[in-house]
Amino acid sequence: MLQRTLSIIKPDAVARGLQGEILAMIQASGLRIAAMKMLRLTEAQAGAFYEVHRERPFYGDLVRYMTSGPVVCSVLEGEDAVAAYRALMGSTDPAKAAEGTIRRKYAQSVQANAVHGSDAPETAAREIAFFFSQTEIVG
Ligand code: RTP
Ligand code: MG
Repeated sequence: MLQRTLSIIKPDAVARGLQGEILAMIQASGLRIAAMKMLRLTEAQAGAFYEVHRERPFYGDLVRYMTSGPVVCSVLEGEDAVAAYRALMGSTDPAKAAEGTIRRKYAQSVQANAVHGSDAPETAAREIAFFFSQTEIVG
């Protein structure tokens, strides 16, 4: 099924100038970039985006990390895009991420793990709307 998902290239990866290489891996996997923007999240935005983790012990650190520098947000489109991009990203913990995945290659730690991807189609719809208006999805 043709689907969309939200990708964020996180501050640790943008700070190391890895956005080009990560976008190349995304395109090589067959996912199509339908929208893209670079921005710096405010504390309120990062807090709202990761609202689901509010009660978790790492929430404060996560918000600090996600606001520490610019990110590159994109809408990816393709066959089963949500699962396809999660597979390309690899496990949250880079030590557990499979060979050939973005996190295996570029993540530095469980927190500074280079990329975000929506975890379900319903989450993807909410996360895409969080960053993009309909008219900004142009691809
Ligand atoms: P994401 O939402 O960013 O795509 O990552 P994910 O689904 O693989 O992992 P999730 O459990 O949703 O966690 C969201 C992000 O929080 C940071 N984290 N830190 N210090 C920790 O134990 C810890 N655990 C998670 C990571 O940046 C993770 O991607
Ligand atoms: Mg998640």
